[in-house]
Amino acid sequence: MKGFAVMASGRGSNFQALIDAMKEGTLPACCLRLITDNPSAYAIERAEKAGIPVTVLDYASYPDRSAYEQALLREMRATGADLFVLAGYMRILDREIVEAFPRRILNIHPALLPSFPGLHAQRQALEHGVRVSGCSVHLVDSGTDTGPIILQRCVRVEQDDTEESLADRILEEEHRILPEAVRLFMEGRLNVQGRRVRIR
Ligand code: GAR
Repeated sequence: MKGFAVMASGRGSNFQALIDAMKEGTLPACCLRLITDNPSAYAIERAEKAGIPVTVLDYASYPDRSAYEQALLREMRATGADLFVLAGYMRILDREIVEAFPRRILNIHPALLPSFPGLHAQRQALEHGVRVSGCSVHLVDSGTDTGPIILQRCVRVEQDDTEESLADRILEEEHRILPEAVRLFMEGRLNVQGRRVRIR
């Protein structure tokens, strides 16, 4: 069975959606490891409960960003994973890492890309006044949330939405499309042609 590794910085509900899909048998793959940059991430507890090994690379303990990224690159290589899933990983990967795993890193983003990349996507959507938003799973390239899009889902933006209520509604869809995209990758069904991803 093919294996993937997850990188997460916090709560880890998307990571949990992957764990649940593996348990239910809808994601026939093995999660080899969780890598986190945050020693107090709740994702760590989720991994321990599911028996998934964890590597903590405490960002604050490295002298600079480059030292952290070198350690991260070593850890990623050591997993032997076919795929790396960024599930609420709140740092931008540097070019060396992206180039070390071309088209093998996937990210979930809480907006309909290319709208609202980067941080606080739900707040950006509300401030812009859009009527629909959603989430996107995409392959990671060297830009910020710019890589080829694999799956997207829409949600309505309601008049009285707050950042939290919109984020919650989007999150429900994230939990559906992330396991689905990982499954498609693992089954070798993604055919990337430039920016366009064809699903076989
Ligand atoms: C999710 O909404 C995810 O899309 C977002 O952070 C949240 C993590 O939640 N990621 C980004 O904004 C990345 N730019 P989770 O830890 O419960 O999965």
